[in-house]
Amino acid sequence: MSFCFLALLLLCVETRSLVRVSLLCFLPQYWIVQILSSHKVFINYQNTIRMKVSTTPRGSLIVFEGCDRSGKTTQCAKLVESLQAQGEEVKLMKFPDRTTTIGTLINNYLQMSQELDDRVVHLLFSANRWEAIESMKKTLKAGTTLIVDRYAFSGIAYSAAKGLDLEWCRSPDIGLIKPDKVIYLSVNEQIMSERANYGNERYEKIDFQKRVHNIFLQLQEPYWQNVSADGSIDVIHKEINTIVSETIRDSKVKPLLKLWTDGEIL
Ligand SMILES: *[C@@H]1O[C@H](CO)[C@@H](O)[C@H](O)[C@H]1NC(C)=O
Repeated sequence: MSFCFLALLLLCVETRSLVRVSLLCFLPQYWIVQILSSHKVFINYQNTIRMKVSTTPRGSLIVFEGCDRSGKTTQCAKLVESLQAQGEEVKLMKFPDRTTTIGTLINNYLQMSQELDDRVVHLLFSANRWEAIESMKKTLKAGTTLIVDRYAFSGIAYSAAKGLDLEWCRSPDIGLIKPDKVIYLSVNEQIMSERANYGNERYEKIDFQKRVHNIFLQLQEPYWQNVSADGSIDVIHKEINTIVSETIRDSKVKPLLKLWTDGEIL
């Protein structure tokens, strides 16, 4: 029996892997821990556990941007559905989030029941994103991917299209979580105006949408990807699904970064 313990101990030291050894041997874990508790193998074992905890693969932040009626909402819903079918943990978000107190003010403004200064509107939209940052961070770190329908880029594009300075518009969103991928759905104007329900809210006028589109192009960075929204829903969906599956795979162990500034989201 003591020979058996000795052999076990040597094997542990050799492989530095208590997990593997405990699988090989039928002794209760209690005995193994007792034998090894004063030994560095046990410390290695604890470190391994700690490392595992701190390197839980994170979820990806996927943002959809584009002009009104570009099909973002439809594509977000289809994407969430297909990722879930592939076994991914995934959650859908939408900005503005009209359910919060700030979101209620935004909603009243968008439905034209309230007039507000353009700068106030801009800051409300930004504040509406800051309200969500803690829960977004927690969700991503727990390994859930977030599919977000509009983000800071929309906030800037719409405000700058009204004539506000682009850099002024950008500043309140500096430090939000940087997306792993922005999918930009670009749609030709003819199709844009033909799509249903066009023109019910503020902003939904063709020349305004053209200005918004041009500002989106100015905001593009290497993590953006254009997807033409002119094709059929299913063709567009397939293209998006491929891009997003790759992004989720590639960002699992990358740090979460801040938008437009150095530093990690801790
Ligand atoms: C997206 O398309 C526009 C032209 O519509 C182009 O100027 C821009 O470079 C493209 N961006 C990316 C990331 O491919």
